[in-house]
Amino acid sequence: MQSYEYLGKPLQIGSLTIKNRFCMAPIGGGQHHLPGGGLKDETIQYLVERAKGGFGLIFTGALAADCTVDPYTGIGPAILQNPDAFKMTATELNERANAYGTKIFAQITMGLGRNYPNLPAPSSVHVFRHPGEVSPELTHDQIKSKIESVIKAAKIAKDSGFAGVEVHSIHWGYLLDQFALSMMNHRTDEYGGSLENRLRAAKEILEGIKQECGSNYPVSMRLGLKTFVKDFEKATLTGEDEAGRTLEEGIQIAKLLESYGYDCLSVDTGTYDSFYYACPPMYMPKGYLVEMAAKAKEAVSIPILAGGRMNDPDIAEAAIRDGKIDAVVMGRAALADPEYPNKVLTGHTERIRPCIACNQGCITRLQQGKQPTCAVNPTAMREIRFAMRPAIQPKKVVVVGGGVAGMETARVAAMRGHKVSLYEKNDKLGGNLIPGGSHSFKKEVRELNAWYQDELSLLPVEVHTGETVTAKELKGMGADVIVLATGSVPIMPKVPGIDDAKVIGCMDAFAHPEKVGEKVIVIGGGLVGCEMALDYAQEGKKVTVVEALPKILSAGIPSPIPNGQMIPDLFEYHHVNVMEGHKLAAVENGKAVLECAGQKKELDADSIVIAVGFRPAPSMAQELAGCGAVVYEIGDGQQVSTILHAVWDGYEVGNNI
Ligand SMILES: Cc1cc2nc3c(=O)[nH]c(=O)nc-3n(C[C@H](O)[C@H](O)[C@H](O)COP(=O)(O)O)c2cc1C
Ligand code: SF4
Repeated sequence: MQSYEYLGKPLQIGSLTIKNRFCMAPIGGGQHHLPGGGLKDETIQYLVERAKGGFGLIFTGALAADCTVDPYTGIGPAILQNPDAFKMTATELNERANAYGTKIFAQITMGLGRNYPNLPAPSSVHVFRHPGEVSPELTHDQIKSKIESVIKAAKIAKDSGFAGVEVHSIHWGYLLDQFALSMMNHRTDEYGGSLENRLRAAKEILEGIKQECGSNYPVSMRLGLKTFVKDFEKATLTGEDEAGRTLEEGIQIAKLLESYGYDCLSVDTGTYDSFYYACPPMYMPKGYLVEMAAKAKEAVSIPILAGGRMNDPDIAEAAIRDGKIDAVVMGRAALADPEYPNKVLTGHTERIRPCIACNQGCITRLQQGKQPTCAVNPTAMREIRFAMRPAIQPKKVVVVGGGVAGMETARVAAMRGHKVSLYEKNDKLGGNLIPGGSHSFKKEVRELNAWYQDELSLLPVEVHTGETVTAKELKGMGADVIVLATGSVPIMPKVPGIDDAKVIGCMDAFAHPEKVGEKVIVIGGGLVGCEMALDYAQEGKKVTVVEALPKILSAGIPSPIPNGQMIPDLFEYHHVNVMEGHKLAAVENGKAVLECAGQKKELDADSIVIAVGFRPAPSMAQELAGCGAVVYEIGDGQQVSTILHAVWDGYEVGNNI
């Protein structure tokens, strides 16, 4: 068993001892609160599950304090709006978490500012994703009032049993970050100008909390060490041309925060304008933050907790062992698997359900005003409503299709006590996880496939690979329930010359990368085509992406903001030629003939890879009608979508049959 000695060591924050180096990042949203104030039972259960799962320190999602200047920020009723309800529910949370030896810090926000429309900010600046809109400017009195609210809310948090508070935040471009960033703070009073002035609100908040809650009461600050922005709405992939916060300024801020009396810093990077540095997708390497965090650690003596794709136990262990950070802060990994720390510390890393950094089920849903949860763990943040229940009457369940939807159905149905057989026509389980996981940056998708296969091997599921079952055979199996999870097949455009030797379907290209030449045209700028293009470009190939719509990544399900921001920047970095508004009209003499606004042009390449979408595989549902079994059709076989929908369909059906 590999030992993660350093991750298991206690951590000291001021006078407070945390049992290990696993911190759960704040993952919040308005959905966490009762409409009249206080935490929902679901919120308490969601956090308690992570306490049980071994996190030594948990940060709550951001809690609003102020209910006068910003009457409603979208993250739930303010603590001060109904302090009694907050105290009652939060006390229960802390009592339950304490049973597992877990400490919880309440993360209290001063506000969100220009990240959302109509919310006041230090200065009138461009509102994120709202062209032409500027934020209203806070008056001096409003700033004072907001500072007071955070201090009062911290006292209520202390009285509710929280072991400490985290001030939200000089990160992600939220209100305190807007004060700190000269590009967003043009004030001429004592809250603008010099760095010390721009940090004045953070200082006054700290002083007030220490006065109200006692000098020993731990206070953390969430701090983005570098913003990676070139301008509003424009990230800098390489970190050059920084218009926001340089790492040097980030370190200076860390030192000042320490001098004010903050007890620890939870560091990360990015703002909404550079969302892929804030909520990094799979294209961002794990542990990308470690060297930046190490610079902060060198500069201060308070603990540095580091978050953002830190969910690789080897990277985390090494970073702590080498004195680069003091603890890891994990957000999405904790959604995907609440038991992450326990699995690491008991030597069962292979049983961790991996976060695939897709951003589909968590941040995107939060931004859409839906319940944030997780693509690979549909129970996340709704553990009570989605709890698995033992089957009262075990049934014979036959699942056809060993892709992710079929594997999830089989896993869940078998865990509940049903007798499950799973049939997959290919030699291996995984379905579209196999091609989908073939890119260099899709290691977690490969891990997810391996995780499913391990889990199935531990359950009494009869797995048949390399077996195609017909409707007739299915009818003879005496099943109570048949679940069809037969996935999707790629679409080939019906254009002249599509049989040309240079044309390769995306599935063929995934399975036989050696067939793809050095100069590649990818037809289709949806997510599949763009990821193929990116992978080829990262291998050093010369790549052109052709998209019929006016914009890449605009067909089908919209890309999460971080992923959608990062791919074009990576294309620019790797010199991928993007031809938007161009359609493949034909393939002639080994050349792609493209059409744009009635004009035709020819493009030469070694390979023309087709990635224009998928359609459901032919269904057996009609043939099975009247067979005596209940038939459900799930996943891509019903409607082509993402891993999220395949897993969720599988869980829904597996958990309720
Ligand atoms: C759904 C969702 C909600 C979040 N809410 C908060 C929040 O309330 N406060 C905060 O500081 N960060 C919040 N974050 C950011 C996370 O704490 C974390 O920084 C981010 O997920 C990147 O870290 P990871 O790679 O470990 O997930 C949120 C992230 C997600 C995905
Ligand atoms: S939805 Fe995707 S990114 Fe978010 S926690 Fe789940 S797997 Fe990770």
